[in-house]
Amino acid sequence: MGEQSPAPIPTLAVRTSAIPHQPRSAACSSPADLISPPAASNDQHQPAPTTTKMTALPPYLMAANPVASGTVFRSLFRNAAQIVTVCARGETHKSGAAMDQVAIFENASLLVDQAGRIVYVGPLDTLEAQPWFLHDSTHVEFEIDCTGQSIVPGFVDGHTHPVFAGDRVHEFALKLAGATYLDIHKAGGGIGFTVQHTRAASDETLFADLQKRMDRMIKLGTTFAEAKSGYGLDTATEVKMLRVLTRHNKSHHALKLSITYLGGHSVPKDKTLAAYTQEIIDEQIPAIVRAVETGTVHVDNIDVFYEKGVFERAETEAVLRRGKELGWAINFHGDELHAMASGEVGAQLGARAISHLEEVQDRDMEMMAKNTIFATLLPTTAYVLRIAPPPARKLIDCGVPVALGSDFNPNAHCMSMPHVMNLACVNMKMTMNEALVAATINSAASLHQEADRGSLEPGKFGDLVVIDNPDWRHIIYQMADPPIAAVYVQGTRV
Ligand code: NIG
Ligand code: FE
Repeated sequence: MGEQSPAPIPTLAVRTSAIPHQPRSAACSSPADLISPPAASNDQHQPAPTTTKMTALPPYLMAANPVASGTVFRSLFRNAAQIVTVCARGETHKSGAAMDQVAIFENASLLVDQAGRIVYVGPLDTLEAQPWFLHDSTHVEFEIDCTGQSIVPGFVDGHTHPVFAGDRVHEFALKLAGATYLDIHKAGGGIGFTVQHTRAASDETLFADLQKRMDRMIKLGTTFAEAKSGYGLDTATEVKMLRVLTRHNKSHHALKLSITYLGGHSVPKDKTLAAYTQEIIDEQIPAIVRAVETGTVHVDNIDVFYEKGVFERAETEAVLRRGKELGWAINFHGDELHAMASGEVGAQLGARAISHLEEVQDRDMEMMAKNTIFATLLPTTAYVLRIAPPPARKLIDCGVPVALGSDFNPNAHCMSMPHVMNLACVNMKMTMNEALVAATINSAASLHQEADRGSLEPGKFGDLVVIDNPDWRHIIYQMADPPIAAVYVQGTRV
């Protein structure tokens, strides 16, 4: 399909686009050829799609619970050329070949109730034939004509560090001149620089900056994100960061966050790893637990930067284990700059997700697949650090459910999931279907959000992106300036 938009197809079809691409690697244990540089030509990488009708799928999706006649609904998205629901069978996540299958309803409408949840996706005439649906302005609060447009689920950003003070544009210049991430880190820059500035910043400043960043993020289609602490590295500042994130979630801002404690992001320069690990366990975590009890802080996940020369294995395990005992999901940085057997560590501890994985080894991929540990891949990191990207193709072919995150932080200053999907396709050889699955249902599931988010199925929130093109793939294809017409959270425009 070229740049010209396809004419709207008159009858409804539920389909997946099975896009042929490069041959898949045979198995986890086969030689990896998947971190080679990007294909020279996009023509070879993204051939024209074929369309397979999924006859096993119903022509529409409708809430199972009966809807009372005369119910008033919040919003009706009418006659979109495509509504990409991603899933249509209640899948909790997708892995392997299923990642390349997305459910698409053509010439379809989507109805959201007053609780912000999807009631129906399918042809308008089928909806209008339902006795409980009265199609008039007293029964539909907002009606949005989506003719010539397409709809995808709101993006779920699986990995961000959005609370920080100061920027690191000067380090960007150093990196462009050849400095590595670890050079800068060891010289006290990088995380250390941001820690200094974040310690000095007030709750008010951090909160105001966070809200501004979330405003930008939501405009780019992200309707839910993971967000970490980790620029405090002392009790007061780690609690302050978590307090700011929690305050954000209590605010009216529509972009809500899954909050992650990352006290183990780095070792402060005046402490040893052993002493700092002890401080995390004996001081920081107990202080956070007290703040949770008073309601000023909420924590969903625990993270550690598990990396050679930063947090080693024993210390990483001790911190993650303590978090797990408190009911926090384990979601950690692993195998970014060195192979650290992160899959084995994750499997032993019962991790939900591991981020980065640029250096992941075959055996660890197998353990991740076997234990359904999500690989949260961050294409901006490899891009900005000019390192080899993670072996996304091999992870997918091995059966690891792959998710995507922006890694928004002062090192990788990107909050655009459309851009992240584009990088995932071009630099990591994912198909557009796989990138969308990774940025929606899989990233939602990596954060235990799959019951509410990540696909446009009845019962889930009406969190969606309206794309100003009848072919949804333009959200990935039109790099740098994605054609977003509007973003909705729970059926309300944001
Ligand atoms: O995920 N690698 C560790 N943490 C971040 C970077 C944080 C920073 O450099 O400020 C990441 O890329
Ligand atoms: Fe990170």
